[in-house]
Amino acid sequence: MTENTPPKTQEKTIALLVAAGKSERMQSDIPKPYLQLGEKTILRQTVKNFLQHPEIDGVRVVIRREHHVLYKQSIAGLTLFPCVIGGDTRQESVRLGLEAIAHRNPVNVLVHDIARPRTSHALISQVIAALKTSKAVIPAMKVNDTIKRIANGHVRETIDREQLYTVQTPQGFHFDSLYAAHQAACGKALTDDAAVIEMAGGHVTMVDGDSNNSKITTAEDLKRMQSLLTVHSETRVGMGYDVHTLHVHDSDTHVSKQYIKLCGVRIPHTHYLVGHSDADVGFHALVDAILGALGEGDIGTHFPPSDAQWRGADSARFLLHAYELVANRGGAIAHLDLTFICEQPKIGPYRQEMIRHIAQILKLSHDRISIKATTTEKLGFTGRNEGIAAQAVATISLPKVQL
Ligand code: CTP
Ligand code: MG
Repeated sequence: MTENTPPKTQEKTIALLVAAGKSERMQSDIPKPYLQLGEKTILRQTVKNFLQHPEIDGVRVVIRREHHVLYKQSIAGLTLFPCVIGGDTRQESVRLGLEAIAHRNPVNVLVHDIARPRTSHALISQVIAALKTSKAVIPAMKVNDTIKRIANGHVRETIDREQLYTVQTPQGFHFDSLYAAHQAACGKALTDDAAVIEMAGGHVTMVDGDSNNSKITTAEDLKRMQSLLTVHSETRVGMGYDVHTLHVHDSDTHVSKQYIKLCGVRIPHTHYLVGHSDADVGFHALVDAILGALGEGDIGTHFPPSDAQWRGADSARFLLHAYELVANRGGAIAHLDLTFICEQPKIGPYRQEMIRHIAQILKLSHDRISIKATTTEKLGFTGRNEGIAAQAVATISLPKVQL
């Protein structure tokens, strides 16, 4: 893009996730955002949840300076705007976060506590939808318990709860309104962002909150959520198998490919692989394994070979599609095990590069990807170098209830 080209489109909605608290009430050695919740840290779980929402255009996290290493480890493989260093209070952390995204000129901002890792996509969508008609939107839940004012162990008053609500995040705002209100409220002590708008005289509307969207504050909260996750997730296993034919380079047919592609890595070879797409037999076996675990047909169901648009297609696209299907169901890939069956080429020298490619597409850590190879002792079609086979097993975890 040249300097004179106008920006393509204004970013619509940015999620600002605040994680710069001191975690005092958690009373643990590891700060709250970096504690493990199931297979991920709380921070990674929350970040991924927002990254995977189709209406969120970017995610920015506000952290404590001294947590930088923990943060980097926690978000490995995810694509995020750089983190922002927060302040002494939540309000200050949000203001610093807003300052850091102001140059991107977003229409909306959703401010969210990192300590709420189970926000449903439906709730995020409701907040964003309500921003079409309101400048400030909060999820709120009616108080059902009786509320009393108590001092020194004595009841002073029973409060009419008719108009009482507890408030959650994500709270959604028109960016300009919240940014201006936060600048004006600098130095005041307000406990949520809606209060900042209220102080500026702005109007705040509510959508229905969700009891699953609770905040982790104490060790007890973490334990409760941990057991919910165990009850509500299940492990699925799928297998995939694929074969592509090897052809010798043929000057008569003007085939000039001097390489084959396996898991996105170009490998120089005396033969080339034949297929409708780019014939990446490794990616194809992985896609089928993931689709198998999901029970969503096979690669041909999603990308029919009869469809001309997939001719010569980069199979990384198919793998990304499989990833999106898992993510859309609130699931996660736990492990992939792929075996190539061929005499040539030798896979070892390319293994790490293949793992890097897969890890990047699937946003997985490298230790969740295994690549192996075997020959068939010169027996059969693979032994005669007539084709390459690949076989994969994918283990995924899926929520029993949608996250
Ligand atoms: N937060 C922040 N900056 C602060 C204080 C809080 O970004 N100076 C964030 C927290 O990281 C958290 C959210 O605001 O995600 C809600 O705060 P809370 O649950 O109270 O977390 P902590 O402040 O870390 O915990 P505690 O109050 O027990 O110290
Ligand atoms: Mg706090």
